[in-house]
Amino acid sequence: MVTFSSISKTVRFIRRNSNSVLTHLRCMSNVPENTVYGGPKPQNPSHRVTLTHLRQKHKKNEPITMVTAYDYPSAVHLDTAGIDICLVGDSASMVVHGYDTTLPITLDEMLVHCRAVARGAKRPLLVGDLPFGTYESSAQQAVDTAVKVLKEGGMDAIKLEGGAPSRITAAKAIVEAGIAVMGHVGLTPQAISVLGGFRPQGRNVDSAVKVVETAMALQEAGCFSVVLECVPAPVAAAATSALRIPTIGIGAGPFCSGQVLVYHDLLGMMQHPHHAKVTPKFCKQYAHVGDVINKALLEYKEEVTNSSFPSSAHSPYKIGATEIDAFVHQLQKSGLGDAASAAADAAQKIEVTKSQDVERQ
Ligand code: KIV
Repeated sequence: MVTFSSISKTVRFIRRNSNSVLTHLRCMSNVPENTVYGGPKPQNPSHRVTLTHLRQKHKKNEPITMVTAYDYPSAVHLDTAGIDICLVGDSASMVVHGYDTTLPITLDEMLVHCRAVARGAKRPLLVGDLPFGTYESSAQQAVDTAVKVLKEGGMDAIKLEGGAPSRITAAKAIVEAGIAVMGHVGLTPQAISVLGGFRPQGRNVDSAVKVVETAMALQEAGCFSVVLECVPAPVAAAATSALRIPTIGIGAGPFCSGQVLVYHDLLGMMQHPHHAKVTPKFCKQYAHVGDVINKALLEYKEEVTNSSFPSSAHSPYKIGATEIDAFVHQLQKSGLGDAASAAADAAQKIEVTKSQDVERQ
C-alpha cells in the first residue's frame, strides 16, 4: 500500500540523488550544451554529442563515426566505444527481424528499438530512421512521424531516404517543425522496388550527377548531414566537396566526412554461410562475434547435457542445515515423501561436493 511515509521517503531519496538520477535520465531530443531552462550546466563536451559538436568535428576535418544500434546492449557498446552517432536504422527489419528487405518494419516496431537504444546510449547523437510507409504521403505525415520518433522514441534527430521533390519538401517541413534531419541518397533500400534491387548508384554520369544534386537539395532543405550509400568514391568525394554539411559514407569510399556501418555486419554477427552471402561487399568485419556466440552456446548445451552446469560456483542461494531438516520434515508431514528425499539427497550431495572442493584447495 502507498502510504504518506513511503511517498515522502521516495521524495527524500530523489532529492538526495537528484544529480545522479538526472545524469542517467536521457529525457528527449538534442538538449544543447547550455540548456535554456535547466540553469547553468557544466560545459562538458564529452557529455553529449550535439549538432554543434558534429559541426566542429566537420570543420576540423575530423572523421565522424556512426554505427547502427537496435537495442540496449548494442547502444551501450556504441556509447562505451565513443561512437559519435548512433543510428536506429530500419536495417533492423533485416538484421534483427530477419526480413529480406527494410520495407516491412513498422513505426511501432521502430519505436521499441528507439526507446531501448535511448536507454543505453547517453553520449552519442541518436538518429532514428523513418520507416517505409510512414512519411511518403505528405509533408504533414512526415512531420507527424518525425515528432513520434522524438517524443515516443527518445531520438535526437531523424533520417529519411531519397531526394524526390516531395521528400525534399518533407525534410524541410520536419526541420521547420524543429527536428534535425539526416538525408540519405545513393542506394536507398526503401526504394528497391523502383531501383530494381539493392543496386549501387552513381555509376553513370546522369546517376552520379543526381547523387550530388540530391544531396545538395537535402542540404538546402536544412538537413544537418547526408548518408551516401553504395556510390563510387569519386562521386562521394564530389558530393562531400559540394556540401557544407558532413557526408556519412557506407560503401562510398574514403572521401566522406564520416563513415557508418551496420552493427551486425561490422561485428560479424551472422557467421552462418547462409548469412555470409548477405554481408555487403563494402563491409569490413572487425570481429567474428557470431563464431564466439555459436561456440558459447555449444559449450553451454554440452555442460547442461553432461550436468556440469550449474556447478556450486553458479548455485549461490544457500539454505542452512537446520532449515533443510525442518523443510524435509515438513514435506514428509505433507505426504510429499519423494520431494523430501530429493531435498535431503541434494543437500547431502552439496555437502560432499563442498568437502571435495576444500580437499582440492
Ligand atoms: O538502416 C540503416 O542501417 C541505414 C544505414 C545503412 C545507413 O540506413
